[in-house]
Amino acid sequence: MIVIIGATGTVGREVVAQLVGTGSAVTAVTRNPAQAQMPTGTVVVEADPSTPSIPAETWDGVEAVLLSSRAVTASAPEILSAAADHGARRAVVISASTVEYPAGEPRFMAGFRALEAAAEASGLAWTSLRCADFDANALAWVPQLRAGDVVRGAYGKAATSPIHERDIAAVAARTLTEDGHDSHHYLLTGPESLTQYDKVRILSDTTGRDLSFLELTPDQVRAAMTAQGLPDEIPARLLGSLSDYARVPGPTTDTIAELLGRPALDFATWATEHAAAFRH
Ligand SMILES: NC(=O)c1ccc[n+]([C@@H]2O[C@H](COP(=O)([O-])OP(=O)(O)OC[C@H]3O[C@@H](n4cnc5c(N)ncnc54)[C@H](OP(=O)(O)O)[C@@H]3O)[C@@H](O)[C@H]2O)c1
Repeated sequence: MIVIIGATGTVGREVVAQLVGTGSAVTAVTRNPAQAQMPTGTVVVEADPSTPSIPAETWDGVEAVLLSSRAVTASAPEILSAAADHGARRAVVISASTVEYPAGEPRFMAGFRALEAAAEASGLAWTSLRCADFDANALAWVPQLRAGDVVRGAYGKAATSPIHERDIAAVAARTLTEDGHDSHHYLLTGPESLTQYDKVRILSDTTGRDLSFLELTPDQVRAAMTAQGLPDEIPARLLGSLSDYARVPGPTTDTIAELLGRPALDFATWATEHAAAFRH
């Protein structure tokens, strides 16, 4: 049994689908089982991953656990300890490339490093997946692109190698089920460095729309996000890292290709798969 904490997230949902698709037994942890829409055959357990009080039955037959939620930083040591007590052998954590290539406010990197430290101290065979920014972050532009053809944002020249959630999930599925990944920090990125201008151009190509990126000041972006009622943490996360990536592009690695034996999926592939969300 493989337990997925954060099963309804961008990565977790894809990991569940891939594991169930290849015949693995999966337990998905969510706060809202009624809305989780997990694949047939998945055991769904109701729990809040921000607290260590995961029901004991979650761990029946556990072999491996994936921590894939921004909510687990504080509770990770207790969750991993419970998994180990019930016989788990492996733990995989979804971390961030910023641990290795610092960008953004240190407190956000520190959270990911704390998660890794919990895995390293767990006594389990551990793997951390240090991910670049997700392709799926572009979905944050959908409301703007429903209203018009312009993406307004800060630091248009900020460059990263964004990663497809299916690639992260494929590596997660392997590391949860195979030997040979113990004590590895894998730095996972997409195949190419793209600015925000590049991403909007690719979305133009894949949707057939004439889209453009309009650069605002960071203060304008912060004010717009605050006016939408977003908590301060959201612009802090976004603007801090974009500011750094505008000066020094994020890393690009071949780790996906090395681990999966095929090239990493590019942003155009992700954009094509999600084109409907970006059309009017
Ligand atoms: N986005 C990026 O570019 C990026 C880059 C590197 C690393 N990461 C990290 O990758 C991990 C996976 O990201 P993700 O977007 O797939 O998942 P996520 O949204 O962080 O979380 C997955 C699930 O955890 C539960 N959850 C979220 N916030 C919670 C809270 N405050 N309290 C309790 N439960 C909460 C939700 O499940 P239920 O509602 O079903 O309970 C959610 O679907 C995260 O740790 C993220 O920080 C993200």
